[in-house]
Amino acid sequence: MNDANYGHPRLAAIYDPLDPDRSDLDAYVAMAEEFGARSVLDVGCGTGVLALLLAARGLTVTGIDPARASVDVARGKPGAERVRWLDGDAGDLPPMRVDLVTMTGNAAQAIVDPHDWHTTLRGAYAALSPGGRFVFETRDPARRVWDDWAGWSRATTRRVTDLPGVGRVETWAELTGVSLPFVSFRGVHVFADGEVLVSESTLRFRERAEVERDLREHGLVVDEVREAPDRPGHELVFVARRP
Ligand SMILES: C[S@@+](CC[C@H](N)C(=O)[O-])C[C@H]1O[C@@H](n2cnc3c(N)ncnc32)[C@H](O)[C@@H]1O
Repeated sequence: MNDANYGHPRLAAIYDPLDPDRSDLDAYVAMAEEFGARSVLDVGCGTGVLALLLAARGLTVTGIDPARASVDVARGKPGAERVRWLDGDAGDLPPMRVDLVTMTGNAAQAIVDPHDWHTTLRGAYAALSPGGRFVFETRDPARRVWDDWAGWSRATTRRVTDLPGVGRVETWAELTGVSLPFVSFRGVHVFADGEVLVSESTLRFRERAEVERDLREHGLVVDEVREAPDRPGHELVFVARRP
């Protein structure tokens, strides 16, 4: 599914400034250290925030994402030359052996199609050295966050942000459908020059047991399922290992 938030150049360019707090990535930087990773593949790297953080710490990093506009934002950031950027999904990876594969920002949920999901798991396994970890998060369906999102409307979510070099951007969101395991929502972005860009997003919510089974099917061992320290009770953070 092509989500304009990531694939439209004008929306990809405001993804980071609209959501600048990336303390969610601290846990992934800490896990890279915990597991002694020297090389990392970030699947669904988007605008490259984690890849750049890890490369700045001296790790060898590859970032891949099917949304070219997002990867182009990453390619334009300071330090981008330290990272190998690839356009595509985990089925498009060249042969590699890394210590750690990451998938942050609930990118797993943006992979809604079962074929794409299995391609991702197969690609993560193939990219890992034996003993390497695959760590990623997905919102815990037991938390039923869509019940909170049901209250979204222009009135409740409207924000006006003045972005350097971009100008004033008005945004709001609304829930458009809950048909589990799928939850869909719309984002509206109104730019100062009058352009209105609408994104339609669908997320897939997977149960813990389902993800554990899928990982095992692809040869991965599930060592742990953690909490996201910055979002306790909301996320399932899988720590899987290629034996
Ligand atoms: C919410 S963004 C998160 C981006 C980044 N990981 C972060 O933490 O900022 C979700 C990302 O998943 C990517 N995505 C969608 N389908 C994908 C797929 N099949 N394989 C890899 N990434 C995918 C999107 O293009 C988008 O960049």
